Amino acid sequence: MADRPRKPGPGAKRAGRSARAFAASGGGFASVDEQLRYRLERGLLGRRGRRRAKPASGRGPKVDQGPRLTAAEAEVAERLQKVMARAGVASRRHSEALIQAGRVTVNGRVVTELGTKVVPGRDIIEVDGRPLGRPETKVYVLLNKPKGYVTTLFDPQGRPKVTDLLEGEVAERVYPVGRLDFDTEGLLLLTNDGDLANGLMHPARRVKKTYIAKVRGVPGPAKIRALREGIELDDGPTAPADVKVLEVRAPNSATISLRIHEGRNRQVRRMFAALGHEVIHLKRIALGPLKLGDLPAGEWRYLTDQEVADLYRAAGLRLGGKPRGRRPARR
Ligand code: URA
Repeated sequence: MADRPRKPGPGAKRAGRSARAFAASGGGFASVDEQLRYRLERGLLGRRGRRRAKPASGRGPKVDQGPRLTAAEAEVAERLQKVMARAGVASRRHSEALIQAGRVTVNGRVVTELGTKVVPGRDIIEVDGRPLGRPETKVYVLLNKPKGYVTTLFDPQGRPKVTDLLEGEVAERVYPVGRLDFDTEGLLLLTNDGDLANGLMHPARRVKKTYIAKVRGVPGPAKIRALREGIELDDGPTAPADVKVLEVRAPNSATISLRIHEGRNRQVRRMFAALGHEVIHLKRIALGPLKLGDLPAGEWRYLTDQEVADLYRAAGLRLGGKPRGRRPARR
């Protein structure tokens, strides 16, 4: 059995130790993991070596490195943000932000150091006072984000957050896959499935996002060609885009569909700005195979099994069994 030590072998005798001491010291286990689990369950792991928070140096926030790890614990320890992401708290990046904001405690102590390692199953991790439990049921929410909402989970300016629109209705802690600007509307996927979120956002997967942009003025054929070939921005040239001119209201405005796989900050607005056209309305209507459809602004629904499966394929992942937590689509 995985959680029992094997019979003490000759090594125990040679060392002149009792079977119990031999087991407690780690002898006879198939792996460090097995040993650690055994010791944990029997309270044989000390809580020694906890560091006190360093006194504030006057430079930067007070840092708590967390408890010092024994050699066996170090073998199984993982970075705090990785454990948080796996538990469905937020993406790794968002988890880092939560740590740095002082919202995470390990064994009751605030940890702000991103290098902190924790031992899953031993250390008690809390975010805003809520303990991380088992990984939550995976849920997938499609929201039509209205203008005037931020996609971050925490806004220093206190502006409305997209997660406010789900409050009281979605029990799981979901977070947005990618971001939309405060003034951008449209398709936003929220989930607690970190693997899917990472796969969809990974640049190598080149998952395409489709935007409808209404711009001031009418870009001529040379500018449309430039959008198709790539625009020089201050963070480098953009990859070629699929572009369709949907409507021209000369000389005031044009409505253009743009399909891109990159996800740089304010990319669509900056692409048009580089051509001398201000974006006056921007809406995302598709993320890979997922379509916004006629979902009204501010409304959300759960994805269907088929939509989740299609997204998994787009993210280059295999869906291990039936997606759980799906509920009937809400109108
Ligand atoms: N590009 C933008 O400029 N803004 C968004 O919100 C998304 C893509």
